[in-house]
Amino acid sequence: MILVTGGAGFIGSNFVLDWLAQSDEPVVNLDKLTYAGNLENLASLQGDARHVFVQADLADRAVVDRLLAQHKPRAVLHFAAESHVDRSIHGPEDFMQTNIVGTFRLLEAVRAYWSGLPNAERSAFRFLHVSTDEVYGTLSKDAPPFAETNPYEPNSPYAASKAASDHLVRAWHHTYGLPTLTTNCSNNYGPYQFPEKLIPLMIVNALADKPLPVYGDGLQVRDWLYVQDHCSAIRRVLEAGRVGETYNVGGWNEKPNIEIVHRVCELLDGLRPRADGRSYKAQIVHVQDRPGHDRRYAIDARKIEWELGWKPAETFETGIRKTVQWYLDHPDWVQHVQSGSYREWVQRHYGAVAA
Ligand code: NAD
Ligand code: DAU
Repeated sequence: MILVTGGAGFIGSNFVLDWLAQSDEPVVNLDKLTYAGNLENLASLQGDARHVFVQADLADRAVVDRLLAQHKPRAVLHFAAESHVDRSIHGPEDFMQTNIVGTFRLLEAVRAYWSGLPNAERSAFRFLHVSTDEVYGTLSKDAPPFAETNPYEPNSPYAASKAASDHLVRAWHHTYGLPTLTTNCSNNYGPYQFPEKLIPLMIVNALADKPLPVYGDGLQVRDWLYVQDHCSAIRRVLEAGRVGETYNVGGWNEKPNIEIVHRVCELLDGLRPRADGRSYKAQIVHVQDRPGHDRRYAIDARKIEWELGWKPAETFETGIRKTVQWYLDHPDWVQHVQSGSYREWVQRHYGAVAA
């Protein structure tokens, strides 16, 4: 049994689906179901006894203590977070509460549980913290990509809150010996991503004949990784990562935003041409830049590759094609997210899951 936090979000739900497609080891999924949590992502697991969903805040110590005592997981994988940089700029409070205080409370609950385990289970136990490359700050054009040894220089409230959570995890290992692992990953894309992030927003807006808002000059660079490759990296780190270590995860796929938006438009032009025959690129508008916008992220993924033999399976071209096709094939999911009706799913299908 493993316990996952944030398993109804974008990466967490992909992880739970992939995990249960490859293993029969059950998953307890603790998620508060904020606006970003969507149980429709896990609809295919309905009635599957291997998936136990619990709606709760990870900062609720009593609930977490009870879940750990009841299910006795061999590992906790911590995905839950407030994750959107723009939201953190408009309202940082929730980010501090969930990403810092929530992680602290979770670490304390896990430490208490882990301390009471018999010796063999104690040494086999793992706490895997899912983090981001944004903790390293921004890179100049020609700087080498972020290695695990780069100093932390977070620039947005989101990045600062994730950096704080990474430091907590590090300290709980160093001080208490908690067997932790941390992954710092670059930008993910793929199925079930909430359309507030660049790629799904562009797909959904393009199809709805809305503007495609590119911040500033659109030449900011991100390093894109297909979400299932991130999930396979996390599985590999859980399986073989060295306790107390951090692993950077990325796809060697640096691209300027404008190139990403163009590629999405070109794919849609081929798969679902506009009625007037023009390219979706006609919908692109350059809008005011994000305050404090980091110019470039890039990940040096050699450590996870050399130590653990992990490599991404998708190229950007195969991953983006799958992603665009997935959004075209799931108009109901898109419509429910846009109308807000996905939030009723928990009432309709999971009446009694609240802790
Ligand atoms: P997301 O916003 O899609 O999902 C977050 C999930 O956490 C949601 O289901 C939400 O309901 C849940 N949650 C939020 N606050 C909670 C709380 N207090 N208690 C319990 N559950 C809570 O995020 P994501 O994009 O899937 O990111 C998952 C993790 O991966 C985050 O820690 C993020 O920092 C990290 N990460 C994301 C990316 C990316 O590109 N999306 C890249 C690297 C790292
Ligand atoms: O690098 C990993 C991080 O990637 C994760 O830790 C975050 O959780 C995740 O949200 C993501 O952060 P970004 O800020 O890089 O992702 P976002 O999709 O919001 O933006 C990607 C780039 O596109 C960024 O340079 C801002 C730009 N952008 C974004 C949006 C939503 C636009 O130009 N227009 C937009 O409408």
